[in-house]
Amino acid sequence: MSLFKQFLISYFFCLLLQSLKIVVEAQNIQQCPNPTEISPCTCSIKKNGLDVICEFTDFNHISKAMDGLKGRQNSIIFYLKLRHNNMPKLQGFVFLGLDIHHLTIHNSSLAVVEETSLSSIGLDTLEILTLYENKISVIESDAFRGLDK
Ligand SMILES: *[C@@H]1O[C@H](CO)[C@@H](O)[C@H](O)[C@H]1NC(C)=O
Repeated sequence: MSLFKQFLISYFFCLLLQSLKIVVEAQNIQQCPNPTEISPCTCSIKKNGLDVICEFTDFNHISKAMDGLKGRQNSIIFYLKLRHNNMPKLQGFVFLGLDIHHLTIHNSSLAVVEETSLSSIGLDTLEILTLYENKISVIESDAFRGLDK
């Protein structure tokens, strides 16, 4: 095979890969779930993913809203902000399978963080965890396992 033919073949192969990449990226455009699926939480789309806010509610409602988010594959939850809620306990697996990058729990009377609540978030995804104005008294020993950032 001539060098020129080889060059042409690699060139077209590159073009093909490039267009495949564009197709894949187009499919990755983030979409919020239907508002009723995550009510009373709200969702908006930010540059790097979804921004989900849950306020003035309780753990059961938040847990249901998380189930609504879990129904969507490939969602990137760039911000999950839980504030002014009544959720004394962060139960295990509540975030399991969600791709959460920044988690904030603020003024939510949080006292107990169960072992598997935080460690079940994707090991590589959670970048920032902020807890403030809560009532933390118990954090189970393995709660942060795998969160090595
Ligand atoms: C904290 O949350 C409660 C509702 O659970 C709210 O009434 C109160 O105003 C909040 N406090 C602050 C400082 O935002």
